[in-house]
This record gives sequence, C-alpha cells and structure tokens, in this order.
Amino acid sequence: MANLTARKNLAELIKTANASHEGGLKRSLGAVNLILLGIGAIIGAGIFVLTGEVASQYAGPAITISFVIAAFACACAGLCYAELASMIPVAGSVYTYSYATVGEFFAWIIGWDLIIEYLFAASTVSVGWSGYIVSFLKPLGIVIPPALTSAPFAYDDVLRFHTTGAIVNLPAMAIVAIVTTILVIGVQESARFNNIIVAIKTTAILMFLIAGVSYVNTANWVPFIPENKGTLDNGLWSFLTSSDFGHFGYTGIFRGAAVIFFAYIGFDAVSTAAQEAKNPQRDLPIGILGSLIICTILYIAVGLVLTGIVPFPQLAVPDPIAVGIDATGLTWLSPIIKLGAIAGLSSVVLVMLLGQPRIFFSMANDGLLPPAFSKVHPKFKTPYISTIITGGVAMLLAAVFPIGILSKLVSLGTLLAFAMVCLAVIILRRTHSTMDRPFKTPFSPYIPVAGIIACLGCMAFVNSFAWVLLIGWMVIGIAVYFFYGAKHSKIQNEPSKN
Ligand code: ALA
Repeated sequence: MANLTARKNLAELIKTANASHEGGLKRSLGAVNLILLGIGAIIGAGIFVLTGEVASQYAGPAITISFVIAAFACACAGLCYAELASMIPVAGSVYTYSYATVGEFFAWIIGWDLIIEYLFAASTVSVGWSGYIVSFLKPLGIVIPPALTSAPFAYDDVLRFHTTGAIVNLPAMAIVAIVTTILVIGVQESARFNNIIVAIKTTAILMFLIAGVSYVNTANWVPFIPENKGTLDNGLWSFLTSSDFGHFGYTGIFRGAAVIFFAYIGFDAVSTAAQEAKNPQRDLPIGILGSLIICTILYIAVGLVLTGIVPFPQLAVPDPIAVGIDATGLTWLSPIIKLGAIAGLSSVVLVMLLGQPRIFFSMANDGLLPPAFSKVHPKFKTPYISTIITGGVAMLLAAVFPIGILSKLVSLGTLLAFAMVCLAVIILRRTHSTMDRPFKTPFSPYIPVAGIIACLGCMAFVNSFAWVLLIGWMVIGIAVYFFYGAKHSKIQNEPSKN
C-alpha cells in the first residue's frame, strides 16, 4: 500500500540547497531583479490576447472589475506562496515544498497540476504569438492561409465542441519548436536578457496607454456592465446551464475574472529562483507581490483605455491591443506594439518551457516519473529528454487547440494549484508551527481561506468543457501515481529516510 504522506527530510533538503552554492550557484538576484523576473513571466497572452475575448464576450468594459477580482485571488495566493518560499527557500517550486511538508501524494497532485500551468500555458501563449505574427506579417504582404494559422477544433457555449475547417496552427508550432531547440542547446535565460524583454513589453503597453488615453470616448463605457440576456423565468438551474450564463451581467464579470486570471499566472516563477536570491527571506515576498501589484495597475489601465477606444463587441480578435491602436489612427505605432507583443510572448513561452522540464526533472529524481525525465545531455548539460517531451506535447496542443480552450484549462488548473497552496499554508501552520517563517502571511488563516474561496469561486464560473478536461487530466495523474510513482518512489523504497 502506498504511503501517501511520505515526506522528504526538510533539514536535508535545505542543507543540499545551501551546499549547491558551494558548487557555484550564485546568489545574485536582488529584490528589483526578482520583481522583473515576475513581470517577465506574467505579462503575455493574457493582456495582449485574452482581453479581447473577455471584453467582447463576457464582461464588456467591466473587464476592469474582472481584473480586480482575479488580482485579489492572486494576491491571497501570492502571500501564501511568499510564506512557503521564504520558509523553504529551495528551488523547485511548490511541488518540492509540499513534498517536504504535507507529503508525497499532495505533492504529486500539485506537481501534476503544475503541468497545466507550465506546459499547457506554453501552448496557449504560442497560439497568442501566432495571432500577433500573422497580424504583423499581413501589412508586409506576407499572408499565410488562415487554414494553416488556426486550430481545427473549437468550443463555444452555443455550438459546443466543433471543427472549424482549419487544418493546423503552424506559426504556434514553429515558436514552440524554436524555443525548445534553444532550451536543449542550453542558452540559459539570464536575468539581463529577461530585463531587456521586460523593458520591451512594458514599453509597448505604456506606449499603448499614453497614445490611447486621449482617444477614449467615454460613451463606449456605457453600459459599464452590459446586460445579461438570460432569464430566471424557467428557474435558476435552467439559467446556470444556459448559454447566457457567464455572458455579461454579474456572472459575466466573474467568468471574465476566471478567464483573465490567466494574465496573472507566472508570478510564482519568482519562488523558483529561491536559490539564486541574495536575501530570499526578505526579497522573495517583495518579488512576488511587487510584480503582482505593478501588473494589476497596468492591466486595469489597459482594460479602461482599450474599452474606451473601441466598442467592446469589436474586440473579438486575436490581436486586440493592435486593434485598439488602429482605432486611434496612429497606424505607425501598430507594428511597434505588435513587435513588443511578439517579443513579450516569446519570453513567456521560454519561461514556461524552461520551468516544466525542471519540475519533471525533480519528479523523476524522486522516482515518481521514469528516470529518462532526469537525464542530462552529456554535452549541453540540459535535461534534454524532458525538454523535448515537453516541447513535443506543447507543440501538438498548440497545433490543434484554440486559445479559448487552452487558456480556460490553464486558468482552471492554476486556480486549483493556488487553492492548494493556500491550503498548504493552513496545514503547515498546524503541523510545522515552530518552524521559522521569515515572511508570514498576514491575518492567517483569513487570507489563506479568502484565497481558497476566491480561487474556487472563480473556478465555478469556468465553462463545463474546461472542467471535463481538468477532471480527465487529474484522473490520468492519479492513475500514473498509483501505477508508477507509488511503486518507484525513492522515499518509499528507503524507509529509513522517511
Ligand atoms: N500570464 C502569462 C500570460 O498572460 C501566462 O501569458
């Protein structure tokens, strides 16, 4: 019988992490670098692409309220992440923290769920990248046939799952292939490179805001919360299951929050840099919360300006920020913004495809995945097999699924992971009450509980198709654990180390 609560030895884990510094891992990142690292992972397809879908289909100008709700859920989860990251400042993210504290099964579930946050998100952002590259090339006379730039499958609340007539999304596949190759060869994403990309994408957003604000027509903000056309005449259940649920009105704001939550994913990447932080105890929380606050302010401003320039029904496009700029007539600015978006989206794909193989690597080292996943290339010194598997699967997903399906699954899966992080803080306050916590989530347990409620609340508004995909994914994960992980787990086979 599997020991579901088998744990890694915490003291040993921290000792190994400290020892690795003697071997050369440098503590070079300060608070500002960590904030920039967070922004590098956060700003991407959410703001550059999904704002269009959320404004045009779910929330209208009230997308700004959706941004605030999603930010609240992230802030609660971010505070909990910060407590865990400062308490256990080792690399490997929340999978490693929970393995040492809550136990193997909980860690596996979180780790399996993180595949959605990293691998599936990489596919999602590549589809967004494809939309911007197509739109950038078009004015230059380079037109790729639409059947080769979009997904053969789609889902909406009226037609449900259906085919589109398109064949494959080639540009999305191409960016995943390029980034995977770079990662196998081993070009490390350096802090300096990240800072340059952050500067490019924030400049693109600031240029949009500065140029756009004087073109805002406040009439476009009326009604601020467009009316939901559904009715309760046939009862609540009938409304909840109808295609009107989540389309405008209050339910639309919440569905918008759940979908646009995608835009905030990535701030937890800061926690994975724990071993390279100069002063992790102080700077990790600053990095996580600082990047979250800056992005929230930018996002709310973009939501207001975009829906102020363009009537929201016109935003159902793959490149809404470019459409916003075109509406101002400042057409010279459009290619600059698109290039900023393309650079920004590429860096998010890189961060996601860099993070995933390292999680696979830890899982394989622990015996929960086959040893091939932790194989390091003799020449390039990279986890090449897990990088190639990650890239291959991400490419396949990006080829056939649209951003609408992928992004909702990613939001749903990540909301679940964040709820588990909040839960872990509540559990650890009881089980490891005396452990040193350089950063403590304030008002605990209220903030962690609020985080769980906010995350689960947002999840309730995601469409049933994404739920089916998430449940299917988790069932596969549980099966893999019992058929493989539990049998090969190193800790379970070395009882003295428990
Ligand atoms: N937050 C990241 C993005 O919006 C994942 O692309």
